[in-house]
Amino acid sequence: MSKQELESVAQTMVAKGKGILAADESMGTIKRRFDSIKIDSNENNRRAYREMLFTTKGIEEAISGVILFDETLRTAAGDGTPFAQVLSKKGIMPGIKVDKGPIDIPFFPGEVVTEGLDGLRGRIKEYKELGAKFAKWRAVITIGDGIPTYTCMEANAQALARYAALCQEAGIVPIVEPEVLLDGSHTIERSQEVTEHTLKVTFTQLFLHRVYLEGMILKPSMVVSGKDCPTQAGIKDVAERTIRALKRTVPAAVPGIAFLSGGQSAEKATEHLNAMNAMGPHPWEVSFSYARALQDPALKAWKGEAGNVAAAQKIFYHRAKCNSAARTGKYDKQMEAAA
Ligand code: 13P
Repeated sequence: MSKQELESVAQTMVAKGKGILAADESMGTIKRRFDSIKIDSNENNRRAYREMLFTTKGIEEAISGVILFDETLRTAAGDGTPFAQVLSKKGIMPGIKVDKGPIDIPFFPGEVVTEGLDGLRGRIKEYKELGAKFAKWRAVITIGDGIPTYTCMEANAQALARYAALCQEAGIVPIVEPEVLLDGSHTIERSQEVTEHTLKVTFTQLFLHRVYLEGMILKPSMVVSGKDCPTQAGIKDVAERTIRALKRTVPAAVPGIAFLSGGQSAEKATEHLNAMNAMGPHPWEVSFSYARALQDPALKAWKGEAGNVAAAQKIFYHRAKCNSAARTGKYDKQMEAAA
């Protein structure tokens, strides 16, 4: 695939009014989500859940692509159509999570680095044949006493850059995700400082590894107060600090920024995105790639029962449309009441 094709896929991922659904929960994560509604994480339930999401009528109005987990890319819907085709028939691009999750860094207590580079070239080739147009790799940065260290930020940035280069070599658009966790009692000022530092180190490595910036998407966390910080910053503060941190560190050549939700409530994640877009125009598209903030209300309505599918889909469609409106700063709290 040429650079122009990478660029065109990246731009389609962040097309106006659209964003990405992250439905790439690993086995451990989907089990935790299913535990919360008291159902088993078995193959049948995982398929039924993902089928409920992907067959929701009209989501293509708000969703440009879906990030899948390895198992889901190899799974078919009840009628035998592989999920990748279910999505592409609706004009939604399938993507794939390719990292193998975080492991502790020896001698750096409380810090992790993401694994999965060994054999990645071969795995990407197979994913491409299975229909994936883009990929995702998540790095995790924790804020705490004396952390993050430079070693942690650099090790994660190097892995992200090596992954991104391997994707582009194979004609797959990399989503580069350095997540600064909101867990902890840190202030929003500290969150901004760590986010800027992390992004600076990440883009340095992307440059050193010759990653084509026009053919990638950045998936960062928003600059928010630590979950346990006694003072919680308001919507405007979050939006202003996040945009400021990004403007200081993300080259304008990058076509789009697609935020993760990171444990914010569904409505907060929409409000923050809306506030940022209302402050635009920005050098890049400002979009979403939420998992929990798009799925949680639907998951709770579904509860693993076929009889709840229609109700859950209605809720999922509503969240997708709210975030689509937030892409242009047109979201209004009234939309929640109306629903
Ligand atoms: P959340 O939106 O739930 O943070 O998940 C996004 C994601 O894909 C994390 O890797």
